Amino acid sequence: MERLTSKEEVRQAVLAARRERKRVALVPTMGALHAGHLSLVQAACTRADYVAVSIFVNPTQFGPGEDFEAYPRDVERDIELLRAEGADLVFTPTTEVMYSPDAQVTIDPGPAGDVWEGAVRPGHFAGVCTVVAKLFGIVTPDLAFFGEKDFQQLVIVRRMVRDLDMAVKVVGCPVVREPDGLALSSRNAYLSGDERVAATVLYHALRSAETLALGGEHDASVLAEAMRSIITAEPLASLDYAAVVDPVTLAPVSTLEGPARAIVAARVGATRLIDNLQLVPGA
Ligand code: PAF
Repeated sequence: MERLTSKEEVRQAVLAARRERKRVALVPTMGALHAGHLSLVQAACTRADYVAVSIFVNPTQFGPGEDFEAYPRDVERDIELLRAEGADLVFTPTTEVMYSPDAQVTIDPGPAGDVWEGAVRPGHFAGVCTVVAKLFGIVTPDLAFFGEKDFQQLVIVRRMVRDLDMAVKVVGCPVVREPDGLALSSRNAYLSGDERVAATVLYHALRSAETLALGGEHDASVLAEAMRSIITAEPLASLDYAAVVDPVTLAPVSTLEGPARAIVAARVGATRLIDNLQLVPGA
């Protein structure tokens, strides 16, 4: 596995892979890799012949007062994990390599970037779309792998690719969870012992909506209220939102007529966590 830090080196490496008629995959990450990221790399390895992973803590997707400085970083450990998974290339640019000092053009994610996470984190999805578009431009992957854990991000990236005619297929991969249901996230490292226990409340809330839906409850407001009451009952959690949304538009649904997505966000202690689950209406 090669570790490259410049865009030009990456372009050359991908060109060489293409000359060998290899199918190229990209797994964009911000590092601090866990089993969720590694599941993306594993999926990429089964679908492509050449797997590039980027590790870049992208400053433009963090708002003022967010955790850009504190975001966990351990590139050497990440590289060993990626080597063990059989990735071919890891791209670890600096901020100066990624962004020229006079960069002005960014990508507007549209209205889907203003709701849910976007409402709490203004500018976040413009930062995500811009860096992902740049990574697509540098690596020119045939396939790009994203986790469903960041469901809104996945929806917006799919839409960007469609609306801007980008020649890449976006592959969404299932959330990877701890045995007690907590979705893996690099930010789980911020949780204290008590907060770690309390953090499972997000998953319990989602599962209660799923159980109600499978039991025939099709009124989305009942499902959302059930999730809210479970999260607000946890003293260490402070609810941001709990909703049932259309999986393509992210608009709230009123009645469960087909597959929908339950989405939740809450602060547990000082750590903001998000999670989601597909809901399928029962008979
Ligand atoms: O999901 C992430 O880790 C980041 O948002 C991404 C897609 C790597 C862009 O910085």
